[in-house]
Amino acid sequence: MNQKNSSNFFVFFCFIFLVNAISFSQKKIPVYKDKNAAIETRINDLLKLMRLDEKILQMTQWTYGKNDNPNNFEEKVKELNPQIGSLIYRSTSPIYRNQIQKKAMEESRLGIPILFGFDVIHGYRTIFPIPLAQASSWNLDLVKKTSEIAAKEAWLSGVNWTFSPMVDVARDPRWGRVSEGYGEDSYVNSVFGVAAIQGYQGKNLSDKYTIAACLKHYVGYSLSEGGRDYHYTDVSRQTLWETLLPPFEAGVKANVATVMSGFNDISGVPASANHYTLTEILKEKWQHKGFVVSDWGSIKNLTNQRVAKDLKQAGLKAFLAGIDMDMVDDVYKNNLLKLVEEKKITIFQINNAVRRILRIKFRLGLFDKPYVDELSEKERYLQEDAISVAKELAAESMVLLINENDILPLKKEFKNIALIGPMVKDSIHILGSWAGKGKPNDAKTIFEGLTNEIGAKSTLHYAKGCDFDGDDTSGFKKAITIAKKSDVLLVFLGEKSSWSGENGSRSTIALPKIQEDLIFELKKTGKPIVLVLSSGRPLELYRLHNKVDAIIEMWQPGTFGGIAIAEILSGKINPSGKLPITFPQTTGQIPIYYNMRPSAVPKMGHYQDIPIEPLYQFGFGLSYTDYQYSEINISSSKIKKEQTITAEIEVTNTGNLNGKETVL
Ligand code: BGC
Repeated sequence: MNQKNSSNFFVFFCFIFLVNAISFSQKKIPVYKDKNAAIETRINDLLKLMRLDEKILQMTQWTYGKNDNPNNFEEKVKELNPQIGSLIYRSTSPIYRNQIQKKAMEESRLGIPILFGFDVIHGYRTIFPIPLAQASSWNLDLVKKTSEIAAKEAWLSGVNWTFSPMVDVARDPRWGRVSEGYGEDSYVNSVFGVAAIQGYQGKNLSDKYTIAACLKHYVGYSLSEGGRDYHYTDVSRQTLWETLLPPFEAGVKANVATVMSGFNDISGVPASANHYTLTEILKEKWQHKGFVVSDWGSIKNLTNQRVAKDLKQAGLKAFLAGIDMDMVDDVYKNNLLKLVEEKKITIFQINNAVRRILRIKFRLGLFDKPYVDELSEKERYLQEDAISVAKELAAESMVLLINENDILPLKKEFKNIALIGPMVKDSIHILGSWAGKGKPNDAKTIFEGLTNEIGAKSTLHYAKGCDFDGDDTSGFKKAITIAKKSDVLLVFLGEKSSWSGENGSRSTIALPKIQEDLIFELKKTGKPIVLVLSSGRPLELYRLHNKVDAIIEMWQPGTFGGIAIAEILSGKINPSGKLPITFPQTTGQIPIYYNMRPSAVPKMGHYQDIPIEPLYQFGFGLSYTDYQYSEINISSSKIKKEQTITAEIEVTNTGNLNGKETVL
C-alpha cells in the first residue's frame, strides 16, 4: 500500500466508525434521555415506551425512610420497588436517598428517577416562625429568603419537593391549621404564597438547591365546620371565587409545580373528587401545567365521605376529577389497571396524568442530575445566613399588643426581673407545629436569650409556675415568692405546639385555666406584668388583657425565637409585627374578620355580653415609637380594569426610637 492509499483507507475507516458511532448512539440513547431535547419531546418519547403498570406506579406515592439506621440502608433499599413515582422521604440522609435513586435509575426498566417529597413547612432543620407568624412580619423578601434557605437544607438532605405553602384563607382560629397559613385575608395569602413559591423554586427548578413547591389544600379546607379538622365545608360560589381561590390562582400564575387536593367535602362534592375545581378551574381555566397530588389518604377517604361505595369507585372518581398522583393509600395502584380494562378510564387520560408528573421530574432536572451532594450535617444545616434570617424573621413576626405606660422596653431600673411560665425554658414548643427536622437541641430558649441579653445588668429569677395545662398549682408558690422580690414580671405562657396544626382543633381558644389562674395570682403582688404568648392561633385574652401591663404575641417563633424575644424585650429591636388575623373577644365571637360583609342593621344583632369589636383587629400592632401618617396621595381618582394606580403616604417617626412600620 502506498502512502496515498493508506491515508484514503484511514479516512474511509474513520468514516465507517463515525457512522457506526452515530447509529449506535441513536439506538442506545433514547430521546427522553437526551438532555438537549425539549421537555415535551422527551415526555412523549418516554410515554411511548412505558407500560401501563409503570405509568400507574408513577402516579403512586409511598412514604420511606423512617428507619434510617445506616446499617440497614442496603437491606431497605433492596425491598423498594424502583419504579415508584414518588416517596415521602423521612430520613435526612442524602447518602441513603442517593442509593434509592440509584436503584431507580439503574434497576427500573426505563430508569425514571423518583421524586422525593417532604413537608418543609417553616424550615427543614433551621426552623423559622410558623407561617401565620411570618405573615405578621409583612416582609415578603424575608419570607422568600426563608423558603430559599429551607429549600437548600432540604435539597441537601435529598428532598426535591415540599408540600408547602398552605394558602387556605383561615377565619376560624379553632381550626388547628390556621398556624400553617398566612391568616384571614385572601390577598395576604396570595402574596406570601407567591413569595414562598419563589423562594423554594428559585429562578429555574433545575438549579441546585431548588425544590418544587405544592399549593395546598385545594380548596376550601379552612372552612371545616366549627373549626373541626377534616369536617364538611359549606362553600358558596361567592366565597369560593372571592375568598378561597385567589391565592391558588396567584400561585398557579407564579408557576407553582404542584397542587394538593384537600380532605374536605366542598358542598357535597369532596375536594379530592371535584371535577369543577380540579379540572375545570385549575387545569382548564388557569392552565396549570404541573400535577395534582391527593392529600394523605384523601382518595380512600371518599368512602368515608359516602361518595364512593368502595376503593375502586373512589379511585375512579378521584382520577376523573383530576388527581394525578395518589398519596400513600395505593388506591390507584390497586385499581387503575382494572378500570382501564373495564374501559372506564382511557390510556389517553392516564397519559395526561403521567405527562404532568414526568414534566415536573424533567423540570427539576432529575433525569439528568438525579443525585444530590453528600455533605455532612454540619455543612448542610444552621449556616450563618440561616441563623441570621431566622432571628430576623422571628423578631419581625412578634406583635406588641399592649404597652401600658411604656413599660417596655425594659428599663435600666429593673434590677430584679422575674421570669415565670412554662415557656421560659422550653425548647420544644417554641419550634412550633410541623417543625420539619428541627431539633429542640438547636433551639435557643427564652431563658438563654434573656440571660445573654440582660443577665449582666439585672438579676434574673426563674420559676416555672405551672405547666401548659393540668391542675397542679404547686408551682405558684415559688412564682409568687420570686415575683415579690422583682421589679417586673415577665410571664411566658401559651400553647403546646401539638395544639396546633393538623388534627389540632380546639373548642376554645382561651389559655387553659391554670395559666390564667397563674396571672390572677401574680396580679395580686401588685408588680407590673409583661405577658409574652406563644401560640399557633389567636387566643382569647378577654380575662387577661386588663390584668397585665404589656402583651407580646411571639407566636411559635422557631429555633432562634428565644434570642429574638429577648432583643425585643430589651429594646435592641423595636417590634414591628402586625396581626394577619383577628383576635376575637371570646371564642363565641368566631367567626369575626376584618372584611365581613355588612350587616343589614349594623348597630344591632351583636352579642349582648361582649363588645361589638374584636379585642385586636386584623392589622393591629404597636411599636415602641410613634408614627404619624400624612394624607394619602393617589395617582388617579379613576381606575380602569387591569390598570394600576399608586397611593403614596409619608410616614414620620415622631418618637424617640428607630423603628420599622408597615403601612396597611
Ligand atoms: C396533610 C398535608 C401534608 C400531607 C403529607 C396530610 O395529612 O393534610 O398537609 O402535606 O399529610 O404529610
